[in-house]
Amino acid sequence: MKPLRKIIFPAAGMGTRFLPATKASPKEMLTIVDKPLIQYGVEEALSAGMDQIIMVTGRGKRAIEDHFDISAELEANLKRAGKSALYKEVSRIARMAEVVYLRQKEALGLGHAVLCARHWVGDEAFGVSLADELIVHSKPAMQQLREVYEATGKSVVGLIQVPADQVSKYGIVAYEAEASGLLRLTDMVEKPAAEDAPSRMAIVGRYIFTPRLMEILADVKPGAGGEFQLTDAIALLAKEEPVYGVVLEGQRFDAGNPEGFLMANTLLGLQHEQYGESLRKLLKAHL
Ligand code: UTP
Repeated sequence: MKPLRKIIFPAAGMGTRFLPATKASPKEMLTIVDKPLIQYGVEEALSAGMDQIIMVTGRGKRAIEDHFDISAELEANLKRAGKSALYKEVSRIARMAEVVYLRQKEALGLGHAVLCARHWVGDEAFGVSLADELIVHSKPAMQQLREVYEATGKSVVGLIQVPADQVSKYGIVAYEAEASGLLRLTDMVEKPAAEDAPSRMAIVGRYIFTPRLMEILADVKPGAGGEFQLTDAIALLAKEEPVYGVVLEGQRFDAGNPEGFLMANTLLGLQHEQYGESLRKLLKAHL
């Protein structure tokens, strides 16, 4: 088994749930306290040993490339001004990973965005991470998946349990618990009505796939909403070979919409060394 090092960050979506903030700026550059979402995602991947990164971007996403690029002028200015902590942080970000960029010319769906990276992935297993889903835990979500992948050599998707009235917002899985305790997925349905949902286990934006997923994606036809759904391809993959689900430890925020974003900022703000205390005071004064 080749070491798992590749990871795709699909970041070409329109971000319509977060308009007007996302009209001219990428959703992935929205900040949680002091860092953009995409940086949390890249740091999580790196800490799980996935250091070959591909971003699938589209129109209006240049800021992502600039964020991970070297800004010689900024670095020189910070150095000259004696702002050494900021200088170190800015230069660390630009050098933290090998990132390549690829454009999805039309936003045809998440499945299509992943397929855009097919040639780069080749015959290796690879991760997929959706940066607008923030998962906060001391053990990075990607590492939680990686451990199951290394034990089985099979595809693994991150799951969370959601309330019954929320299933229609997610891809929901059917599964069987194996004797080993692993959850083997048997089916997946994108955004089912509550009465049609096979369980309350929802797929969240962390995945590791065997290369077979790419071949399946290449044949998938547009599904719900006219988009190429990744969920449809995972359901087909699960009919051919085992696909496991990992119920992720940690708190998960859908920071791609204002409500989840505010909650993520509040939690990480409260936990922040420098800003936590004043935020706590503000919240207390208004509750
Ligand atoms: P989302 O549905 O969360 O993102 O897709 P979106 O389409 O940007 O958001 P809304 O629904 O309009 O508010 C999940 C992930 O898939 C990427 C998005 O960038 C996000 O990371 N994506 C989605 C693509 O890269 N290309 C697409 O065509 C669609």
